[in-house]
Amino acid sequence: MIKKLLCALALLITCTGANASGGEFPLDRAPNRINELTSLQNGAKLFVNYCLNCHSAASMRYNKLNDIGLTDDQIRTSLLFTGEKVGDLMMGSVSVKDGKRWFGVMPPDLSVIARAKSINAGPTGSDYIYTYLRAFYRDTSKPTGWDNLAYPAAAMPHVLYERQGPRELTTIVTHQHEAPGGKGPAAWERVTTTYDSLGYATSKTEKLSNYRGHASTEHKFKALDASRTSAYDNDIADLTAFMTWMSEPIQQKRKQIGVWVLLFLGLFFVVAWRLNASFWKHVK
Ligand code: HEC
Repeated sequence: MIKKLLCALALLITCTGANASGGEFPLDRAPNRINELTSLQNGAKLFVNYCLNCHSAASMRYNKLNDIGLTDDQIRTSLLFTGEKVGDLMMGSVSVKDGKRWFGVMPPDLSVIARAKSINAGPTGSDYIYTYLRAFYRDTSKPTGWDNLAYPAAAMPHVLYERQGPRELTTIVTHQHEAPGGKGPAAWERVTTTYDSLGYATSKTEKLSNYRGHASTEHKFKALDASRTSAYDNDIADLTAFMTWMSEPIQQKRKQIGVWVLLFLGLFFVVAWRLNASFWKHVK
């Protein structure tokens, strides 16, 4: 019985593991800044200034930002446009009709995107957001002029590209293809494609004879303005932390309460155990 249970448990663990790593593009780990108020505040600023143009966060009110240390006055002066109130919901300015007409899809509401993405992109979804916002590359052949490695053919343009600075992308695909006419052994080749900082692609193909490895795809970004790009990474870590906080503002409190509950249960166990021993001491 126990053996069967253990087997089932092992199976469950391997299955969920396989599921989490099922995505094609490997995700970078988002730095954990959920407890750092200055990071959350910077993230909130970036979010309101750059994302609410298209997206909404309809489960958030501006004054909820009090919880991450911003006063109503700070919210009013640095985050609100004229006419908005601190009690307002974070509504974007794009209607469903315009969203569909402009982008082909409506930009999704971002209130709980960090949790929504956790279903198929790692434990928290934060890693996905952190990777997605750093995986844009210019590609002139795409409708928006941009594409994204973590979400190929995304309808969202790279709205923060000026903050990230210019980059080049090189992809190296090693693969096997059938010999012409299906005769003879399949041949291996390596295709190296470089997208320059303006999005023009150049590609070269080498034949690999005697290749013994397996098929692979590799991506390398080269920052042409390294200091801007590393400042951008830092900003995106903050923005991701903010979006993670927003998807469950009570998260920190829930974890703190959890620790106290476990401590209490531990203590209670000791008391119950000793009491039990003393009650039964004289009963033989
Ligand atoms: C110009 C409009 C526009 C702006 C500004 C914009 N987005 Fe988007 N975003 C979109 C559209 C359109 C989609 C839907 C993409 C699709 O499904 O192809 C999207 C999708 C997303 C997704 C979901 C991706 C997925 O895998 O489903 C995330 C996360 C996201 N945006 C984050 C952001 C963040 C963070 C900002 C602010 C830095 C931002 N967006 C700013 C238009 C925009």
